Amino acid sequence: MSQQNNRTRSAQTFRSARWFAPDDLRSFGHRSRAMQMGYSADDWKGKPVIGIINTWSDINPCHTHFKQRVDDVKRGVLQAGGFPIELPALSLAEQFVKPTTMLYRNMLAMDAEELIRCHPVDGVVLMGGCDKTTPGLLLGATSAGVPAIYIPAGPMLRGNWHGKILGSGSDAWKYWDDRRAGLISDKDWTEIEGGIARSHGTCMTMGTASTMTAIAETLGMTLPGASSIPAPDSNHVRMSAESGRRIVEMVWEDLVPNKIQTHQAFENAIMVAMAMGCSTNAIIHLIAQARRAGCNIGLDDFDRYSRIIPVIANVRPSGDEYLMEDFYYAGGLPALMSRLKDHLHLDAMTVTGKTLGENIADAQVYNDDVIRPLDNPIYAEGALAVLRGNLAPDGCVIKPSACPAHLHQHTGPALVFDDYPSMKAVIDRDDLEVTADHVLVLRNAGPQGGPGMPEWGMLPMPKKLLKQGVRDMLRLSDARMSGTSYGACVLHISPESYVGGPLALIKTGDMITVDVPNRTIRVEISDQEMQKRREAWTPPERRFERGYGWMFSQHIEQANEGCDFDFLRTEFGKPVGEPDI
Ligand code: FES
Ligand code: MG
Repeated sequence: MSQQNNRTRSAQTFRSARWFAPDDLRSFGHRSRAMQMGYSADDWKGKPVIGIINTWSDINPCHTHFKQRVDDVKRGVLQAGGFPIELPALSLAEQFVKPTTMLYRNMLAMDAEELIRCHPVDGVVLMGGCDKTTPGLLLGATSAGVPAIYIPAGPMLRGNWHGKILGSGSDAWKYWDDRRAGLISDKDWTEIEGGIARSHGTCMTMGTASTMTAIAETLGMTLPGASSIPAPDSNHVRMSAESGRRIVEMVWEDLVPNKIQTHQAFENAIMVAMAMGCSTNAIIHLIAQARRAGCNIGLDDFDRYSRIIPVIANVRPSGDEYLMEDFYYAGGLPALMSRLKDHLHLDAMTVTGKTLGENIADAQVYNDDVIRPLDNPIYAEGALAVLRGNLAPDGCVIKPSACPAHLHQHTGPALVFDDYPSMKAVIDRDDLEVTADHVLVLRNAGPQGGPGMPEWGMLPMPKKLLKQGVRDMLRLSDARMSGTSYGACVLHISPESYVGGPLALIKTGDMITVDVPNRTIRVEISDQEMQKRREAWTPPERRFERGYGWMFSQHIEQANEGCDFDFLRTEFGKPVGEPDI
């Protein structure tokens, strides 16, 4: 059971007391309607009301177990003397939501923030894990400001096909290329379909889900070790109940996100992301989240730490062999953080009420090949590099650890596609004029152009080149890329082409130079030529005339700013305050 010795406030100060305590007609309504559900004053009087924001749905395979886990959370809340109420939120299943979950991350953020604000809750348990659900929930809870603890869904078990280990995403791309090259049969392909995702839980490669849940833990928003526990493991059940117990104490202690999510905590998160070989999506989400917490974190912070922190998690796709299940058995995230002790800000506060340093004091690595020592990394520099130049004045991103070294410095002619459908229509043609030296360019795939910045950044390799045995080439876009993808893909080019960034102005045949060691990206045309083309450019027609899409296109920020809505920024206006009751 949780400790009860840090209580700093009385029950009269709870938000929920504004609903339940007064002797007036409105509170009569709240109490009588709670009693309608079978509760009595014993359930709520003097107790923290805990909202459990659950992103379960019938079409989210990563969160299937949340239907049961929510009962474990409630058990924990009740044990610690709280009153649990489940509040369903937008589910955002990465594989099913079209055109891309990124279009709706901010909608979940608003959902979570307003669910908290409008209900009588004193603290929240956030249940998420599939890619955008972690940042969505944390963005909302950060702005709402009540005590919050995060429960990561946990990675699924390793995939299996013919005794071979399969990793989410990464092996789908790999075997798809094999199938297009005629190396595996249709029967093989169907068997792979049935073997690659064989338990509930999030993708078990170092994709966006594992990256973002590790970041949530590093920030101090989960119980220690929570993010690495495989979803079907009974430790995950116990972690869920313990999170329920702990949030009740956090309310008594008034341990709000702003006491945890400090500038130092965000620096810790960046360092751990680098050591994990993180998904490039982490950059966008962390920038948005830091800004919500009032911390100024930008692309340069990522580049700075990427030069200091090596990739030591030997997990696919940066690593070549292991998956999250192996990472857990090797000691999980606390073990990885123990390797970074000399770099991390160990006095950062966490949901335990203890510092990060205290939480990881006893952590040990049980397998040096999975969690490497710093002097034997899988990649000496960090996972990400930020490039700038006349093609990306506000920056762009590449994951050098997931692409071959010979493409880290490359000059070649552009082969430009105006949008995804036109690329898809020709990329497999035998007469496509393309060589391994070409640079594939996709535009109109950014926050506005996609819309929602889809994960199109790993442009398919032209079939013609695959047949020649070419497996990678330089590819540029203003899109994102799945964390489970790999290859020499330059992403998040800002400003995006749809709003007139230089990407909109380049032509097939222009020479493009990418230089990762020197962090530059250039199109070899003169400033005068660029200006001439800019004057001739006409902006595309707006896509949305009504609804959420219209709001999105009016307010979405660029990738280097975190793709938040401008009006959700903390400094946008006066604090929202509490609702009238
Ligand atoms: Fe949900 Fe990958 S599809 S985490
Ligand atoms: Mg993903």
